[in-house]
Amino acid sequence: MPKIKSITCQKILNSRGDWTIETKVTLDDGSEGSQAIPDGASKGENEAVYIPVERAVDIVSTAINDALEGEDPTEQFVIDQILLDMDGTTNKKHLGGNSILSVSLAVAKASAKSKKMELYEYLAHLYTPKKDPSAKLKFPVPVFNIINGGLHSHNSLSFQEFMAIPSPTLPFDKALEMGVVVYHNLKEILIKDGLDVDVGDEGGFAPNNLTVSKALQYISKAASQSYKLGEQLFMGMDVAAGSFYMHNSYLIKEEKKTLDSNKMSQMYIDLLTTYPLIYLEDPFYEGDAEAWAKFTKAVGSRLMVVGDDLVVTNPKFLKNAVDRKLANAVIVKPNQVGTLSETFEFVRNAQKAGMKIIVSHRSGETGEDTFIADLSLAVGADFIKSGAPVRGERVVKYNRLLQIFNAHNK
Ligand code: PGA
Ligand code: ZN
Repeated sequence: MPKIKSITCQKILNSRGDWTIETKVTLDDGSEGSQAIPDGASKGENEAVYIPVERAVDIVSTAINDALEGEDPTEQFVIDQILLDMDGTTNKKHLGGNSILSVSLAVAKASAKSKKMELYEYLAHLYTPKKDPSAKLKFPVPVFNIINGGLHSHNSLSFQEFMAIPSPTLPFDKALEMGVVVYHNLKEILIKDGLDVDVGDEGGFAPNNLTVSKALQYISKAASQSYKLGEQLFMGMDVAAGSFYMHNSYLIKEEKKTLDSNKMSQMYIDLLTTYPLIYLEDPFYEGDAEAWAKFTKAVGSRLMVVGDDLVVTNPKFLKNAVDRKLANAVIVKPNQVGTLSETFEFVRNAQKAGMKIIVSHRSGETGEDTFIADLSLAVGADFIKSGAPVRGERVVKYNRLLQIFNAHNK
C-alpha cells in the first residue's frame, strides 16, 4: 500500500487574475497529484467557506501535511473524514473549503497515478466499487453558456447565463461541434448588428443593451442558421436569481422592473411558450422555497428546474430540496461542499431521488484543471457546464472529454 509522503501548497492565478491555491500530494512510491481550486462570483449563501489564500497555503503545508503524512491515500473516505474532523465546523471555516478540497482531490489524483488508472476510472471505482470496469461510458451533454450577464460581465443583463444545449440523443463529439458552430454563428450576427463581442468570465458574449428576450432571440437565430431548434438543439438559462433578489423581490435592472415571485414564474412560463427552453437554473433565490416548490410543481414535467445555490452540492440542503420537491435537477460543484466524499454522497442521493445531474465549473477556473470532466464520467452525469467553447480554462474540460470519447470510439 502506498503512503502519503508529503503535501505542499502554493498560490497561483486563476482565469480572473485572482489568487487561488494549488496543492500537490506526493506518495512514497513517487506518484503525485496536483489540484488547483476554482472560485465562484455568484456563490450560494451556504457554500463551504473560502479562507484567504496565504492562510490556506500555510494550513495545507503544515497542519494538514502533518496530519496525513503516512496515511493510505487510497482510503479516500478515511482521508476526507480526517480532514472533516480536523476542521470540526459545519461550513469548513476553520481549515477552509479551499484548503480541504485541494487535498481531497489531489489525494485521489495521486492514488489514480499510483494504481496506473485514468482519473475517471479511479473515481468511478471509488463511486461505484462494484461496477464492471468494462461497462460503456456515459458522456455528459455539454451545456454551452454563450451569452453572459449577471455577475459574470459588466453589461446590463440581470440573468447570468444563456445557453445552447444539444439534444441528449447526440454523441459527445457531435454535440461539441454544434456548440462551436452556434457560437461562431452568434458572433457573426452580433457583429452585423453592431453589438460588442467581448466575452464574459465563462466565454459567452457580453454585449450591452440586451434584455432577456433579446438574448434568447439571438441564440434562436444563431442556432436556427445551422440546426433544427427544438429538435437538434435546445436552450437554457442560469438566472442566478439570488444575485438580484432584494427586499423580497427581483430587480430586472435592464427593464427597470421589480417582480415578485409570482410574476417571475409567469415570466418564465411565457418564455417557455416562445422558446424551446429545457433548462432553468436558480430561477429563484435559495431562500424563496415556496416559489421553487410551486414552480417545479407547475412545469417540472417539461422543464429541468435546476438547483445550484439552492443545494450547494451539500447532502443536507439536497434532502430539504428532495423532501419539499423544490427542483428536479441539481448542479454539482465539488468546491461548494469541500470534499470528494461529500460530493459523491450528494450525487448518489440526487440520483436516487431521480434528479438529473449537471457537473459544473466555476466562473473563476484555472487553465489546466480538468477534474470536473473526469468526475462527470465517473458518476454518469447527464450534463456538464464548462462555459462557451472558447477560453483555455473552459475548453480544456471539453477537450479532455473529447479525447476520452475518441479513445473509446475508434
Ligand atoms: P459562479 O457561477 O461560479 O460565479 O458562482 C456559476 C453558476 O452560478 O452556475
Ligand atoms: Zn448557477
